[in-house]
Amino acid sequence: MSQAIQFPLGADGLPTHWYNLLSDFTEPLPPPLHPGTGEPITPDLMEALLPPTLVEQEMTGEEMIEIPQEVRDVYALYRPTPLLRAVRLEKALQTPAHIYYKYEGVSPVGSHKPNTAIPQAYYNKMAGTQRLATETGAGQWGSALAFACSIFGLECTVYMVKISFEQKPYRKLLMETYGATIHASPSDRTEFGRKMLAEDPDSRGSLGIAISEALEDRATHPETTKYSLGSVLNHVCLHQTVIGQESIQQMEMAGEEPDIVIGCSGGGSNFAGMAFPFVRKKIKEQKNYRIIAVEPASCPSMTKGELRYDFGDTAQTTPLMMMHTLGHDFMPPSIHAGGLRYHGMSPMVSHCLKLGLIEATAVPQLKVFEAAVQFARSEGIVPAPESAHGIATAIDEAIRCREENTKKVIVFNLSGHGLFDLSAYDSYLNGRMQESGDDA
Ligand SMILES: Cc1ncc(COP(=O)(O)O)c(C=O)c1O
Repeated sequence: MSQAIQFPLGADGLPTHWYNLLSDFTEPLPPPLHPGTGEPITPDLMEALLPPTLVEQEMTGEEMIEIPQEVRDVYALYRPTPLLRAVRLEKALQTPAHIYYKYEGVSPVGSHKPNTAIPQAYYNKMAGTQRLATETGAGQWGSALAFACSIFGLECTVYMVKISFEQKPYRKLLMETYGATIHASPSDRTEFGRKMLAEDPDSRGSLGIAISEALEDRATHPETTKYSLGSVLNHVCLHQTVIGQESIQQMEMAGEEPDIVIGCSGGGSNFAGMAFPFVRKKIKEQKNYRIIAVEPASCPSMTKGELRYDFGDTAQTTPLMMMHTLGHDFMPPSIHAGGLRYHGMSPMVSHCLKLGLIEATAVPQLKVFEAAVQFARSEGIVPAPESAHGIATAIDEAIRCREENTKKVIVFNLSGHGLFDLSAYDSYLNGRMQESGDDA
């Protein structure tokens, strides 16, 4: 009989609850601080930005949080997502390792981002919000929020990092198709954008700048508009835990227990979504998984940054968060994995690293694309450049298994497809891509 490569969950495999790792940390997560007073942020301050339910989810110690039926109904458009065994990649690598991947690219916009965009749009709609303002790097998050806003009848304004705006014109069109309004960031729409442009008219932007612009947009339209963030925050990591919960069920169907769990990490949300349900088993069932977060070598917040309080955005408008950071004014090189060009890391992911529950590694851009192309040629899916960071590490671990002749079970999160990123593949395949970021 041929090897099973798919482990499909039926509709009843869709999780009914999100898992909250905050409830299981042995040492509490340091709270976000008000930059003026140095005191922990109170819920009323956060409610200017987010609807009350999301503020509650940001802070709650409850372990399992029920997913509203309206959200589950929209998840059902694409969830449960597939978990596959990469037998052709295993063969190409001649490794005794078994490699599995959870594929989030089947969502309508091609990534894991709708897992949180849908509940965020839903809770905002319930709270009477008219419009959401947000930022996007590669455009995956902006597309997800634009899609979710179209489902729940909200307006959506997206500040898109200028380098990605230029590299990925089809992402902009996708967002517009869902009815969103897009501005290249830095833009002349906000005071902070104008300041950045005055300092550097050719600025290619960063997630930190785009976040500042979206926050300013919210602050100047307090009656109608709330802010929405696609990563970093606790409630975003919470919503993403559907990924890991499904993966645990699917690995049971495959009859295997992972030794190594891998995910790429920009602000940390897809990694958290995959990893936290496994971290739970590590804490509660003393499992000894290796759980690895993978970041770009050119934006190495976890492997080279400091763990300290820092702002989440360049204009210093957010609360201070305890996280691994390269500094809020760090300007990442223009690598093609736009979604990983962020100076900080989710406080929850940072805390996991501090507590030794996870590891972190960094991979350079050319190696990432070598892995991406090898994956595409063996498994057929063209991965998003962000996701390919996880693939590169999975391949490294599988090669190590070959060299040491050990059979490990590796599972990684393939957070999205790269069909809107083909200009990056063009640059790699035609020899223009450089390690430094800028194409030749
Ligand atoms: C496909 C994909 N994977 C990963 C990321 C990184 O974000 P996060 O660390 O929040 O998962 C992004 C961000 O845009 C993305 O588009």
